[in-house]
Amino acid sequence: MPLPEAPTVAAVTPEALRSALRQRNGRRGQLKGRQPDDAARAEVLALLPGLDSTNAPPRDRLIEHLHGLNDRFGALFQRHLVALAALMRLSMAHVHEVASFYHHFQILPDDQAAPRLTVRVCSGLSCQLAGGAALLQRLQGVLGEGVQLLPAPCVGRCEQAPVAVVGQAPVVVADAAAVQARVQQALADPAAARHPVAPGAATFDPAARAPCAITSGDTDLAPPWVGLAAYRQAGGYQLAADLATGAVAADAVLAAMTDAGLRGLGGAGFPAGRKWAIVRSQPAPRLLAVNLDEGEPGTFKDRTYLERDPHRFLEGLLVAARVVGIDAVWIYLRDEYHGARAILQQALAELQAAPPCPLPAIELRRGAGAYICGEESAMLESIEGKRGEPRLRPPYIAERGLFGRPTLAHNFETLYWVRDIVQRGPAWFTGFGRHGRRGLRSFSVSGRVRQPGVKLAPAGITLRELVDEFCGGMADGHTLQAYLPGGASGGMLPARLADVPLDFDTAEPPGRSQGEASPSGGGGELGSPPGGTLKSHGCFIGSAAVVVLSQQDSVRAAAVNTMQFFADESCGQCTPCRVGTAKAAALMAAPRWDHATLDDLAVVMADASICGLGQAAPNAIRCVQQYFPEDV
Ligand SMILES: Cc1cc2nc3c(=O)[nH]c(=O)nc-3n(C[C@H](O)[C@H](O)[C@H](O)COP(=O)(O)O)c2cc1C
Ligand code: SF4
Ligand code: FES
Repeated sequence: MPLPEAPTVAAVTPEALRSALRQRNGRRGQLKGRQPDDAARAEVLALLPGLDSTNAPPRDRLIEHLHGLNDRFGALFQRHLVALAALMRLSMAHVHEVASFYHHFQILPDDQAAPRLTVRVCSGLSCQLAGGAALLQRLQGVLGEGVQLLPAPCVGRCEQAPVAVVGQAPVVVADAAAVQARVQQALADPAAARHPVAPGAATFDPAARAPCAITSGDTDLAPPWVGLAAYRQAGGYQLAADLATGAVAADAVLAAMTDAGLRGLGGAGFPAGRKWAIVRSQPAPRLLAVNLDEGEPGTFKDRTYLERDPHRFLEGLLVAARVVGIDAVWIYLRDEYHGARAILQQALAELQAAPPCPLPAIELRRGAGAYICGEESAMLESIEGKRGEPRLRPPYIAERGLFGRPTLAHNFETLYWVRDIVQRGPAWFTGFGRHGRRGLRSFSVSGRVRQPGVKLAPAGITLRELVDEFCGGMADGHTLQAYLPGGASGGMLPARLADVPLDFDTAEPPGRSQGEASPSGGGGELGSPPGGTLKSHGCFIGSAAVVVLSQQDSVRAAAVNTMQFFADESCGQCTPCRVGTAKAAALMAAPRWDHATLDDLAVVMADASICGLGQAAPNAIRCVQQYFPEDV
């Protein structure tokens, strides 16, 4: 019996199929849904010229374009989003999904007016200790017609608490009168709503003074910064130039980095030299992504160095790029750092005008208010113009990262120390350290100390030593009750454990640290000094954000503050974190805790969350239960 004839199958590409379907539906080249109107299209094009002259506008620039619209119109209006989607050949759903992910974008219907001004009052822990909640309360209803008042997560000025931000201008050590005065000025003159920036003219060499207090209770918003001429005069960019000419060998730099044992200073502590070697062994092109998101509540070290000394960081970036063989660099800077952004833009322009060596392509990207974008894979998603949702690993980003290419991701400060470590030698760096640890750490200290600020101190210093030697002791009238050694994520310890060395607790990072799998795993705990290790007490140092609480503070309120922060900042991708943080925050607000339910939640969050946010969120619960049971 003859077989029935098989139907003919045409080989089609997905694009040909899409085009055929569009033609059949009579909507050739048109996006679904609402179509852009001419006026909105013209407004978008006036801001983003050239968008209509390319067939394939780079999709990764979506967030930059959203910033352009948000800055110009005070909000994201539906009509502009529709026009932008059409011009970028993106679906409206995608544009809306991205825009709605970030706190700093406010989507409004076309018939609503944008706020005249937005005032944000920091609700982070250090600001809460300094009266931030009362300040927010006092400002309700008194700022005038059209002024929007919002609570905000830590804005990275915890040593200047409480902080309000009027437009883009911080008001530090703020009270209601100062905020109201600044609002009036900003309504009369928009320049008053911008962040001040000092001219570049200073000298700044922290390594020469180490260990030292970098800042001590300073409230300066625009410190003078080291411009290119001053930086070069002090020997700056010589290393980058020597590396480019071959006068210094890339392998010698790599060896110095490895010998110094510099750990990643963004939180996970992976050894920088090893990371460079791993990424260097991957096929080209390789990319570098610099993490300047600095969102961990209590952390302000990156801003402090960046707004004083941007070229030292840029030289570290160039050296890393040359040694690892990097083709292009993205710098991801948190949106809150408007002053630092202006300085970095100026420093990059100076560098590009007089390069000490051939430069890789360097692109500065602006975050949009999302803590999770500090997690490195979420940062890459955001740079690609998407929602900042952490990726599952493997593959590790060293193998497949930004735009699918092998990627070196570094915290700002890790790169900041490269020049000093190579030029002064690894022994200079390892010559610091206490209680069995080696190196220097930049502690961001805030809360109840006399002189809060960034303290460049020996790794392994204890809280007691840090407060007494670098912070002028406890603030008047306050005695130590508790402290957070690593921001909101790193847990909380009682005063009796003020002698624990503050540092990473593993000689080599474990396979997973802060929820991040290291490219090569391995590791083990350091020998326990008398006070034990942070890890043995259920804590970690993370980005070295130390928040000091006194007997006048409530540890329960502090724990609720951190859990509420995680609930607000969860990206929502996985259920244990999305539901767990919100439920835990509600349960922890009760005067007496439901320990059984909180225990269950803590286990599920720690074990089943995708990334470090959900995995570390329960630290606060467990520490309060363990060290302050009488409070809950
Ligand atoms: C929830 C979360 C938030 C993070 N936020 C930051 C951040 O704001 N800045 C940063 O440098 N690293 C942050 N990290 C760590 C980064 O994922 C990554 O380890 C780091 O950028 C790598 O650079 P390093 O090796 O130089 O530290 C965060 C990690 C997690 C899990
Ligand atoms: S743990 Fe939280 S922040 Fe991380 S991926 Fe899951 S939902 Fe997102
Ligand atoms: S600036 Fe307010 S807590 Fe950090």
